[in-house]
Amino acid sequence: MYLDKQTAVGVIGAGTMGRGIAQIAAAYGHQVVLVESNPAIREDAEQFLQRILKRMEEKEKIGRGEANAILERIDFQSELSACEGAGLIIEAIFEDLPTKHKVFRELESIAGSRAILASNTSSLSITAIAGVCRLPERVLGAHFFNPAPLMPLVEIVPGLATSKQTIQLARNLINDWGKTTVLAKDTPGFIVNRVARPFYGEALRILEEGIADVATIDWAMKKIGGFRMGPFELMDLIGNDVNYKVTETVFEAFFYDPRYRPSFTQKRMVEAGRLGKKTEIGYYDYSFGAKNPEPVKDPELGQTVFTRILAMLINEAADAVFMNIASIEDVDMAMTKGVNYPKGLLAWADEMGLDKILGVLENLQSEYGEDRYRPCPLLKRMVRQGQTFYPPSN
Ligand code: NAI
Repeated sequence: MYLDKQTAVGVIGAGTMGRGIAQIAAAYGHQVVLVESNPAIREDAEQFLQRILKRMEEKEKIGRGEANAILERIDFQSELSACEGAGLIIEAIFEDLPTKHKVFRELESIAGSRAILASNTSSLSITAIAGVCRLPERVLGAHFFNPAPLMPLVEIVPGLATSKQTIQLARNLINDWGKTTVLAKDTPGFIVNRVARPFYGEALRILEEGIADVATIDWAMKKIGGFRMGPFELMDLIGNDVNYKVTETVFEAFFYDPRYRPSFTQKRMVEAGRLGKKTEIGYYDYSFGAKNPEPVKDPELGQTVFTRILAMLINEAADAVFMNIASIEDVDMAMTKGVNYPKGLLAWADEMGLDKILGVLENLQSEYGEDRYRPCPLLKRMVRQGQTFYPPSN
């Protein structure tokens, strides 16, 4: 079996993610069936794609006439049965296991036995989704990032029963779409949503302890760290409700490992309805004419904040390698292509010196006595043996 431009692609759900995935597949040349059960959202998705594609044509990002050609390749439908004949079906419906089970059960009875079924889930287990399928070997995770047409990364996640052929075929095709794929083990948060937790969690902890305020932490991460956005700006953009939910899910899924414990500050923000940009108030005030606090531009304080958050991120990245979630290269690729980190965390660790990172973590652990700061055994072993993640360049 082979997947190429001639393969029909089904996308289930035309919300934030589904419409973007349908756009990618149709732009590549597939005939796409986009199934959305809510008529208002179906209508909205169609208008949204018309607008986006037209704008792309005006900006000469796609050729003249291409907007229409891409749209014509997308068939907006309301029933899953319209996916009959698709060689690849990507599900992007609500993040709810029983709802996904229902859809996968139905898809199995509609799709041909050779069709590949993918889920765009960001926090559910692929093995759990595939658990209700008769042919779990053809089910896998294909985790796109928002906005799907713009973010290059797709995490490919095999479940326990996924066949090598399914992984290969889906990965090759998604690579052909121009995406960067990384392979991640079916564990909570896969790579990005796991490794990125301290970017928010440690920033919140620093805030709660009163070491630095919101504006100063954001300033430190941008100015010293080179991150495009500070943690609080990013949480406001993602939505504090969404970010809190991911943290909560990852924490529960890791059997309450204290490393992933959610913060009261974030919980209170959600309770207060301060969800971020979408409610015009979060950590910052986005209402017209609002004045937000200035950062304390103290280089020493900035360095302390940055080093602490970075050390925690590197610890998490090292742990993902230690636990065989992904390769060194894929962990670094995931963070640069999925969430725009300025450097791969493990390459950054080499650059800063693993002994320095370990030292920061050991100091935190001894100061607080909390398991949250325990250094990854891989990091300890590598420092002991004088190793680096990548071979030295000269
Ligand atoms: P959304 O709520 O914007 O869209 C889901 C859509 O699926 C809705 O329009 C809903 O009407 C439709 N739907 C539900 N059941 C259906 C059914 N049986 N048949 C057809 N359509 C159905 O959700 P969003 O944000 O697009 O998320 C979708 C999936 O992608 C979730 O699993 C989520 O975890 C994942 N994801 C979301 C990201 C994000 O930033 N929003 C990023 C990466 C993954």
